[in-house]
Amino acid sequence: MTQRNRTGAAAALVALALLAGGCTGATGGVRGTPGAAGLRDPYFPKLGNGGYDVGRYALSLAYDPGTGRIDGTAEITARATQDLSAFNLDLAGLTVSGATVDGARAAYNRAGDELTLRPHDEIPKGAEFRATVTYAGVPEPITDADGSAEGWLRTAGGAVAVGEPEGSKTWFPGNHHPSDKAAYDITLTVPAGLDAFSNGVRTERRTAADGRVTTVWHTSEPMASYLATVAIGRYETGTATAAGRAAEAGSGTDSGSGTDSGSGTDSGSVPVLTAVEASVTADTAALRAEIPVILERQADRFGPYPFSAAGAIVVKDGPLGYALETQTRPVFPAASFDRTTLVHELAHQWYGNSVTPATWRDLWLNEGFATYAEWLYTEEYEDVPARTHFERAFAQDANWAFPPAAPPGPGNLFDPPVYQRGAMVLHKLRETVGDPVFDEILRGWPAKYRHANASTGDFTAYAESVAGKDLDGLWDVWLYGDGKPDRP
Ligand code: ARG
Ligand code: ZN
Repeated sequence: MTQRNRTGAAAALVALALLAGGCTGATGGVRGTPGAAGLRDPYFPKLGNGGYDVGRYALSLAYDPGTGRIDGTAEITARATQDLSAFNLDLAGLTVSGATVDGARAAYNRAGDELTLRPHDEIPKGAEFRATVTYAGVPEPITDADGSAEGWLRTAGGAVAVGEPEGSKTWFPGNHHPSDKAAYDITLTVPAGLDAFSNGVRTERRTAADGRVTTVWHTSEPMASYLATVAIGRYETGTATAAGRAAEAGSGTDSGSGTDSGSGTDSGSVPVLTAVEASVTADTAALRAEIPVILERQADRFGPYPFSAAGAIVVKDGPLGYALETQTRPVFPAASFDRTTLVHELAHQWYGNSVTPATWRDLWLNEGFATYAEWLYTEEYEDVPARTHFERAFAQDANWAFPPAAPPGPGNLFDPPVYQRGAMVLHKLRETVGDPVFDEILRGWPAKYRHANASTGDFTAYAESVAGKDLDGLWDVWLYGDGKPDRP
C-alpha cells in the first residue's frame, strides 16, 4: 500500500531494488522487467519484493490440527510500480499448486524463499492487478537469527502464528517487508469444537453442515505482515469497549492518511476482544479488564488509538518464544501476560504498528518507544519515575553493547540496547527539550506518520522541528555513539 508520506529512505530502497531488477523479459513484445527479489533491507536483503505495492491480502486458510496441514488461497491485490514481466512473493516451505494473475493462469517457480509469478500478459506500470496463489502443506517454523522460533507454530490441539521479523512468510505468500503495508481479510476454517482468532474485526462466524467453523477477520488499516496473527484452538473470549479512538477515523481507510489526520477528538470507542486459551490455568481476568483502562490512558498521552479493534490473545506457555504486538490484538505466552508487557505491546499499536519502521535498522523506534511507554506508565500510575528506570538501565553493561540505531547484525535486533538504550534516547530527549515539547513529540510522531512508515532520520528531523533546534549532540552520543557516556 503506497503511503503519501512514505519515507525517502523507503523510496530509495525501492529505487535500488528496481535498479537491481535484472534483464528484460525473454519473449517478443515484452518490455517489462522482473520485479526485484528483495528490497535490500540492511539486515534482510531478500525480504520483500520490488516492482509492486500490495493494497490488500485476502487469505483463506483451512487448518487441520491433527496433521498440522494448512490449505490456503492467497488473493493479493497490488499495483505495479514498473512494467512487470514477472514478480516475486516471499514464501518459505509449503507447496504451491496454482497461480493466476487477473484470472489468467500464471507460470510460477520456487527458489529458496522466493516464489516467482510470470503472468500471461505483462503488467503495465501503474496498473492494479490481482494475483492468486493456492498452496498447502505443513508450515515449518523459522528459527530467527536470535534463535527464537516463529511463524506458524503448532500448539496442543491448534496453532498460533507470530512472526517478527520474518515468520509470516511461513504461512502466506506476500511482500513480507514492513515497508509494504496492506489491508487484510483473513478467513479461517477449523474443525468442529475449535475456534480461530486473528487481527481486526470479526465480520463473520459460521458453522458448516460438517461442523467446521469459519471466521472472517477484517483489518482495514494498513498492516505490516510481521504483525499478522492467527490463533486456533479452544479459547475463552471476553469483550469490552475502550474510549480513546478518534471519532472521525471511522473504520479506517485503505489509502494513507494525511499527515494531520491523527489529531482528532477522543470521543470514539473501540471494541476490545480478548481470547485466552482454555488450557491456561493462570487467572487472566483482572489484567484483561485493564486493557480498556490502559488504552484510554495511552490515548491521553499518545493521541487517538489508531485502529478499529483492540484486544489480546493469551496462549498456554510452550510454543511461543515471545509476546508480540500483533496489530489490534497482541499475542502473549501466558507467563508474559503481566502489566508491564501489556503496556509495552499496547504502546506498540501507536509506535510500530501505526508508524512502522522503514527498515529493520529502525527497530529502536518500536522498541525504544514501547519500553519508554512502560517507564511513563509507572511514573504516572505507580510512583516510579522514568528517571529511575533510566538510571537503572544506564548502570547495566548489557545496554552498552552497541548503539540502538546500529545493531551489528540481524541476530542483535532484539537485544537490550534496542529496547533500553532506545528508551534512554527518549528520556534524554525529554530532559533536553522539556516535558511540554516532549509530550508534543510523543503525540505528534504517530500522528504525522499515522499508518505509514518512517526511518530514524525521519524521527530525528521531526524531533528537531518540534523542538525548534538542532539536537545533533544528543543523537551523536545517545543514539549513534559507541560506548557509555561518563554521566547518565
Ligand atoms: N516486538 C516484540 C516485543 O514487543 C519482540 C519480538 C521478538 N522477536 C524475536 N525474533 N526475538 O518486544
Ligand atoms: Zn516491543
